[in-house]
Amino acid sequence: MKAVFYSENGGPEVMQYGERPDPTLQDDGVLIRSEAISIEGGDLLNRLISPPDPVPFIPGYQAAGIVEAVGPSITLFQPGDRVVAFNWCGSHAELFAAPECFTYAIPESLDIALASVAPIAFGTAYDALIEYGNLQPGEFVLIQGAGGGVGLAAVQIAKAAGATVIGTSSSNERLERIRSFGLDYGVNYRDEDIAEKCLSLTGGSGVDLAVDLAGGKGKELLVKALRPHGRYAAVGAATGEIPSFSFFELIGEMLHVFGVSLGQEMHTGRVRALVADIFAKLEDGSYRMPIDKTFALSDAVAAHRHVAESHPFGRVIMKP
Ligand SMILES: NC(=O)c1ccc[n+]([C@@H]2O[C@H](COP(=O)([O-])OP(=O)(O)OC[C@H]3O[C@@H](n4cnc5c(N)ncnc54)[C@H](OP(=O)(O)O)[C@@H]3O)[C@@H](O)[C@H]2O)c1
Repeated sequence: MKAVFYSENGGPEVMQYGERPDPTLQDDGVLIRSEAISIEGGDLLNRLISPPDPVPFIPGYQAAGIVEAVGPSITLFQPGDRVVAFNWCGSHAELFAAPECFTYAIPESLDIALASVAPIAFGTAYDALIEYGNLQPGEFVLIQGAGGGVGLAAVQIAKAAGATVIGTSSSNERLERIRSFGLDYGVNYRDEDIAEKCLSLTGGSGVDLAVDLAGGKGKELLVKALRPHGRYAAVGAATGEIPSFSFFELIGEMLHVFGVSLGQEMHTGRVRALVADIFAKLEDGSYRMPIDKTFALSDAVAAHRHVAESHPFGRVIMKP
């Protein structure tokens, strides 16, 4: 099969495109012929900082396509089914192997490209805000990185939960576009002080929950923006810099810091039901996810570079 692969960490240029052996179909696995491959924020972060294993490493978490073959113990799927699947690697390829428990049927009326970008973005946002973030109607939530895939999903879920939604992005034009997804107040992180703006919007109290998708130095501002006993969701590090907390920082602000790792829970009945609900909401139009641009899989270097450097709005996908 044709696939994208790399053997060392680095920028998009470390990726090559060429012939690789087909993935092995496991007894409890599904082999999918990919039609739409989502480029996830985690794919970029992995390429930058996670040592590739095995080498050469085929990156990618999530893709949608048609079931080509199933292992002997599979009961939920058969060849020809339209599915989207998660796995820890391997989606940047013509064929993608995933365990049955990480594979989800796509409803007939849902566009396959839209399905390819949905489970991780909306599932992660839901867990950060609702399942573990305990967001309540009337609370203030700050979403750092509101124009990305998880960010746009988070804006919609937070608004639907009855919260006042503050989001950050790199330009006023992007913030304006996010408004139609439910953003109440935008903060341009390039020329505004996030903490000052949040304190002013909350009458000096601070926000109740901050969802950090960017990491890096911005984390300090999120901590300042939170109220005492506020909740900080450690979700992502789109800046490529992993944030950390000191003991006195936690005590001084009386913070509740919690982590989200959707991939570790995607096999559970809870997340499978959540994904079915996400699909239903995409079908009835309550959720939206713009697809900023579509690249050929053979142009993966340009596609990753676009995500890393051009500030796409929503998701970028590739087609084999
Ligand atoms: N823990 C989990 O289970 C989990 C699941 C999914 C994703 N993630 C992580 O979450 C992060 C976001 O994922 P994604 O798929 O949404 O990525 P994405 O679509 O590439 O979006 C990244 C966002 O980060 C923003 N950003 C970049 N630099 C920033 C800065 N200095 N300050 C504030 N915002 C900044 C960008 O905003 P602008 O374009 O406006 O600059 C963009 O909206 C990634 O690090 C990913 O690994 C974690």
